[in-house]
Amino acid sequence: MRIGILTAGGDCPGINATIRGVGKTAMLHYGMEVMGIYSGFQGLLTKEVELFTEKSLSGLLNLGGTVLGTSREKPFKKGGVVDGVDKPALILRHIDELGLDCLVCIGGNGTQKNAARFAALGVNVVGIPKTIDNDIWGTEFSFGFDSAVSIATEAIDRLHSTASSHKRVMVIEVMGHKAGWIALYSGMAGGGDVILMPELPYDLANVADTILERLKKGKPYSIVVVAEGIQTDDGRHAGEFIAREIERATGIETRETVLGYTQRGGSPTPFDRNLSTRMGGHATELIARGEFGRMVALQGGELASIPLGEVAGRLKLVNEDHDLVVQGRRMGICFG
Ligand code: F6P
Repeated sequence: MRIGILTAGGDCPGINATIRGVGKTAMLHYGMEVMGIYSGFQGLLTKEVELFTEKSLSGLLNLGGTVLGTSREKPFKKGGVVDGVDKPALILRHIDELGLDCLVCIGGNGTQKNAARFAALGVNVVGIPKTIDNDIWGTEFSFGFDSAVSIATEAIDRLHSTASSHKRVMVIEVMGHKAGWIALYSGMAGGGDVILMPELPYDLANVADTILERLKKGKPYSIVVVAEGIQTDDGRHAGEFIAREIERATGIETRETVLGYTQRGGSPTPFDRNLSTRMGGHATELIARGEFGRMVALQGGELASIPLGEVAGRLKLVNEDHDLVVQGRRMGICFG
């Protein structure tokens, strides 16, 4: 059995730990071969690959990014044919030529969608959910999320002291694409006073009232956590837009911080290292059992899997009834 493994889409902490989890389990426990495919699906177009040895898997557990590199290559885009090249057909031929019995696709929503399409073409595929955004359908958590939340929480902690010293409003924009998970988890963990997410509509008057109420109660500074995906009136970036509107409505000096790619860089948290290791191991177990066309998932805190077809094209978004939202509201946090 020869496994091909690729990492696609935006990088995040924990990818290398997942590669290690798959690789070591496959080689040491099942006696399988593992071939690394470079730069996501692009490596299957160019046949840029390397057969792993045990040594290739050393030093990966706490290493950020992905040693296999990544790309946002979408082989099925425009019907799959670009400049006369039928990309899916070329990839199928290369999978055959490389002697790959199956493919492990580590990635976010786009990657799982591509994995589902290759599965429908008859390729033996197993997906592993990876994204800091935590928006992949069917899994409670994707690895990378906990690391991003921890980085964002530390940033919010640091903004508290400067906000309080200057009696300012500090707006922090965090990532998350169309989902508010990073804003919700880091906002709650960091003691944000206002948390705005794309899933919950906001009213700027409410946000301003919350900040002015705090001022009246002797709290002259506030922390506002904003997900990058919220709607803005004029197309401005979320953090910048909210900061200017707060300043205009309250008259309080307001500054914004855009956390950006630091949320995706560096070493994974212990939680993500263990989640990656467990998910990598579970993917290999699925392969050994011949259970293909599935994505590894965390359900009820346990490793499980769901059909790739169920994941493709769906997003897991924050819900009004999420216990952190409910609890936050009870404690006076403004969600818009
Ligand atoms: O999906 C992860 C993510 O970091 C999102 O939070 C963000 O919107 C996007 O990727 C940024 O993508 P890119 O790497 O293309 O700039």
